[in-house]
Amino acid sequence: MVGEGGHGVPGSSGEPAPFDTGVAHVARVYDYWLGGKDNFAADRAAGDQAIKAFPDIVLSARANRAFQARAVRFLAGEAGIRQFLDIGTGIPKMNHTHEVAQSVAPQSRVVYADNDPIVLAHARVLLTSHPDGATGYLDADLRDPRKILDGAARLLDFRRPAAVMLMAILQHIGDEEDPYKIVATLMAALPPGSYLTLSHPAKDINAESMAKMAGILNQMMAEKVTFRDRPAVARFFDGLELVEPGMVQASKWRPATGAEAASPAALWAGVARKN
Ligand SMILES: C[S@@+](CC[C@H](N)C(=O)[O-])C[C@H]1O[C@@H](n2cnc3c(N)ncnc32)[C@H](O)[C@@H]1O
Repeated sequence: MVGEGGHGVPGSSGEPAPFDTGVAHVARVYDYWLGGKDNFAADRAAGDQAIKAFPDIVLSARANRAFQARAVRFLAGEAGIRQFLDIGTGIPKMNHTHEVAQSVAPQSRVVYADNDPIVLAHARVLLTSHPDGATGYLDADLRDPRKILDGAARLLDFRRPAAVMLMAILQHIGDEEDPYKIVATLMAALPPGSYLTLSHPAKDINAESMAKMAGILNQMMAEKVTFRDRPAVARFFDGLELVEPGMVQASKWRPATGAEAASPAALWAGVARKN
């Protein structure tokens, strides 16, 4: 664990690793789409080319964050979850999982994990836990789920239900790396009553523009993308029970307002329970 916050443990972001600003990286491109300032010329160039191919990517990114907030509110509220493992955290500035969860249940404990050094450099923001809860940050790769589980176990008790959050990250795990096995390994470590929450760029919503954008990102960005269609994303939930309304376009998952529901999100999203 790089740092922990809450329960009187002082926050620490650790030493950020140096990062290459000459090549676009997804965390910074995504930050650019969300209107953030933590991006460089290469990230903005890739982000702009992607916007040209698929102008709704900006609204999609926002809809993804809004889905995440609604899902965490559901998990901490109705579902009674008090432990969260948020993998592929990113550098967004609002609606961090611990902020949303602790606004519902201050005792919530959240471990974040990401493999990008710039996210690590921003980890301090993620360690501002409510004193009744706790937050931690792992510098780790989703391709090594055991390492993430072992690190997270310092703060989370996997004998009790927890929620795994995989928000807009699985598209960076190619089919040859068996993303289904990675998700199954994470969920196998959790007891019944746990949840999987994920969102995933859709290959079959605005298919033509999405294919064009994928081509551009795969040329310009360090992390490659594999967008997936509805059946391929639904497979991540195999063996779990999807809560209402099932796996849907991210903006259609329990939207709080008409504007949220109308957002043109090109992502499949869902929340499912392990029984
Ligand atoms: C598109 S952003 C999504 C951020 C946030 N989860 C959200 O949905 O708003 C993808 C994030 O996943 C991280 N990421 C990509 N591949 C990863 C991997 N193999 N292991 C850990 N993190 C990864 C990136 O660094 C980036 O921060």
